[in-house]
Amino acid sequence: MCGIVGFVGKEEAAPILLDGLERMEYRGYDSAGIAVRSEQEGLQVKKAKGRLHVLRELTRDGAELSGTLGIGHTRWATHGEPNDVNAHPHISENGRIALVHNGIIENYMEIKEHLIKQGVTFASDTDSEVVAQLLEFHYHECGNMLEAVGRVLRRIEGSYAFGIICADYPNALIAARKDSPLILGYGENGNFLASDVTAVIKHTRDVVYMDDGEIAVLTADSIDVFDDELIPVDKKHHTVDWDVSAAEKGGYPHFMLKEIMEQPEAVRKTVSPRIRDGRVVLDDVALTADYVKEISRIYIIACGSSYHVGMVSKYNWERLLRRPVEVCLASEFRYSAPLVDEHTLVVVISQSGETLDTMAAMREAKRLGGRTLAIVNVVGSSIARESDDVLYTWAGPEIAVATTKAYSTQLVLMDLVGLYLADVLGTVESAEYSAIVEELAVLPEKLEKVLAHVEDIQYFASRYFNHDSIFFIGRNLDCAMGMEGSLKLKEISYIHSEAYASGELKHGTISLIEHGTLVVALGTYRALLDKSISNVVEVKARGAEVLAVTTDEFRGKMEKTADAVIAVPESHPVVQPSLGVVPLQLFAYYVALQRGCDIDKPRNLAKSVTVE
Ligand code: G6P
Repeated sequence: MCGIVGFVGKEEAAPILLDGLERMEYRGYDSAGIAVRSEQEGLQVKKAKGRLHVLRELTRDGAELSGTLGIGHTRWATHGEPNDVNAHPHISENGRIALVHNGIIENYMEIKEHLIKQGVTFASDTDSEVVAQLLEFHYHECGNMLEAVGRVLRRIEGSYAFGIICADYPNALIAARKDSPLILGYGENGNFLASDVTAVIKHTRDVVYMDDGEIAVLTADSIDVFDDELIPVDKKHHTVDWDVSAAEKGGYPHFMLKEIMEQPEAVRKTVSPRIRDGRVVLDDVALTADYVKEISRIYIIACGSSYHVGMVSKYNWERLLRRPVEVCLASEFRYSAPLVDEHTLVVVISQSGETLDTMAAMREAKRLGGRTLAIVNVVGSSIARESDDVLYTWAGPEIAVATTKAYSTQLVLMDLVGLYLADVLGTVESAEYSAIVEELAVLPEKLEKVLAHVEDIQYFASRYFNHDSIFFIGRNLDCAMGMEGSLKLKEISYIHSEAYASGELKHGTISLIEHGTLVVALGTYRALLDKSISNVVEVKARGAEVLAVTTDEFRGKMEKTADAVIAVPESHPVVQPSLGVVPLQLFAYYVALQRGCDIDKPRNLAKSVTVE
């Protein structure tokens, strides 16, 4: 959560900072602020509650602040309500140090009390301001900013990415990181720091990923990185392999719709390099056949939609691998005494690669001796770097808070990994293996067919958007898929929604079905279609309005029972959820649109959740 950006160079900083913040607004958007330093004006700070456009108006698109050195922040509040004062940057009491922070300082209360005793006055309720004040305290003590930063980092506990400027260092920007993402960018007219590559991609594709414990000093022409003992470190440069257009709306009204439409291409990019001559090839993993054969248990750990990918994969992998697969919410995993040993494969799924709970769970799994395999979208992210193995979903940058294309690419990559492992274990028949590989290869075309019928879904959304409670029911893979459909809907439309295993409904939840309740019945899993239809009959008998999602083959059968039917092309059962989920994403999107919701930035949410 929260996005930070910094620039030092030969151009006016404020417009660059505002543009960077706009591209990272998905990380948090309850308030924003920038601090810029110039020779004539000194340190100037502007902060505003609300979306970034409020800050833009306040600063006349940055024209109000002059100077070529600055930092900016877009906030997702943790400590202290969203308001102008709690917005970053935070300034030390003497007004000479400005700081932006992403993360949480766990021992801030104790430090704050200590500083108050020393006579320091605080302006905000945040944990971040404590760091700005502590910096001033240590800077006063040692007279050297880098040394002061080092002292502060030794004193604080928690997670952080910092951008710091000091009036006494007119040409330097300081960065530090631990457990919160931070990249450094080498530009032609200056250098950058940012939480995310999207903030700097307009200016440079040449970046360095900071590691935990590192501190960097940026000037217009140089970037020097140090370890926690202030010893210089040589950093590897990375070239970002996508350009600015990937992070722009490209004519779509929302990033979410653009990203839904990009799914065929994203799936193609994720699958096609990994299928050669009808075989799954995972060049990038070091899992040996000997290790795979010794796997006794598999955990899949993730949060949110990535967890829902895990739910689908559990059905698919148990079918293919004949090994127990347990799916765990990352926030629960490490507090649940998990049964991990050296024969446990722990798969962590994360779009951002920065979700704190997932990261912490992965570390715990490693500590217990498990082998970790990360399925990640953001190249160079923390989870990608710490995992024993990493496989990337080539979805490209995903900006909308509600994930779509990352979810889809995670699904297909999990199918590929499942096939790969099953092949090594000899637990999949060759005909089934080939059928799934073939279906994955043609999936992009089938996805295009689903997306060609957007108007049907738009129509259903206009028919049902005013319901205030919606149930998603299904069996087996349809049940797992329904969890994602329900989450999408509640995330962006704020309609109360629940996903339920159809067969379980009658054990309680069916009491909530009354005349006119909307039930989205998922019937794409052919093995249980008749049973699913029986469950549709049950809810219809209690007055429900039923919108069914099924396959072309079963459209006729469903139409006899449901009030409305959406059909997707048929595929192999393992691959079918990749098609079935798309109408659910579109349904959520158009329902939210009808309700006038802020689709790309839903209330209370953030895309990258870096707090526990
Ligand atoms: C947040 C996002 C979700 C996402 C979840 C896990 O809650 O809003 O869309 O599924 O985090 O994120 P990750 O980056 O780990 O997949």
